[in-house]
Amino acid sequence: MSKILNVISSPRGEASNSIKLANAIIDQLRAQDPAAVVEVKDLTKSPFPHLEEVHLNAFFTPIEHHTEENKAAISHSNQAIREIMDANVIVIGAPMYNFGIPSVLKSWFDHIARAGITFKYGANGPEGLVTGKKAYIAVATGGIYSSGDSAGYDFVVPYIKAFLGFIGITDVTVIRAEGLAIPGIQETALDKAIDSIQL
Ligand SMILES: Cc1cc2nc3c(=O)[nH]c(=O)nc-3n(C[C@H](O)[C@H](O)[C@H](O)COP(=O)(O)O)c2cc1C
Repeated sequence: MSKILNVISSPRGEASNSIKLANAIIDQLRAQDPAAVVEVKDLTKSPFPHLEEVHLNAFFTPIEHHTEENKAAISHSNQAIREIMDANVIVIGAPMYNFGIPSVLKSWFDHIARAGITFKYGANGPEGLVTGKKAYIAVATGGIYSSGDSAGYDFVVPYIKAFLGFIGITDVTVIRAEGLAIPGIQETALDKAIDSIQL
């Protein structure tokens, strides 16, 4: 039975384009595999904290030496890693905020990247340990970044792909709803994005 992890990073609920686009991707995945189970990870309702000293101390202390404080500090990171390891497919809804990803998504990434657990450094450099997954990124942007003058300002897609690749997720499909703030384009942008979904 396949498991889909639906990662939400827009706080806009039913009005959110990235959530609607991610849901359309998930509907198509479930049409292919009706038994697939979807787990929703809404990072806006349960945000991960910015990394603080307690988290870093716990990350870099060997597990056998963990104190109660280390264990408490690392518990959400451990849970997030279990969820991503358990999933076969990860669907990330990503609005563009000021050319980058929402900070809630960055915080989740910060709690997932753990040396020795989700990546390691070997003789050939970094090696991702979260392997055998498929990821979809449902991107929503006010402007247009797939081509044209603003293409160089997209720090959403290259960054998410770099991060996922670093932890071992290299099979990534990007679907963009773009031009959502541009009159004449915004009216059809989401429908065009949904029509462009190819699993
Ligand atoms: C705080 C904020 C910052 C934004 N920054 C950008 C931006 O830099 N570039 C852009 O094209 N759109 C930007 N937008 C527009 C959003 O990307 C767009 O409204 C998108 O639909 C938001 O995703 P959502 O509908 O899933 O919430 C911004 C919107 C907000 C609320």
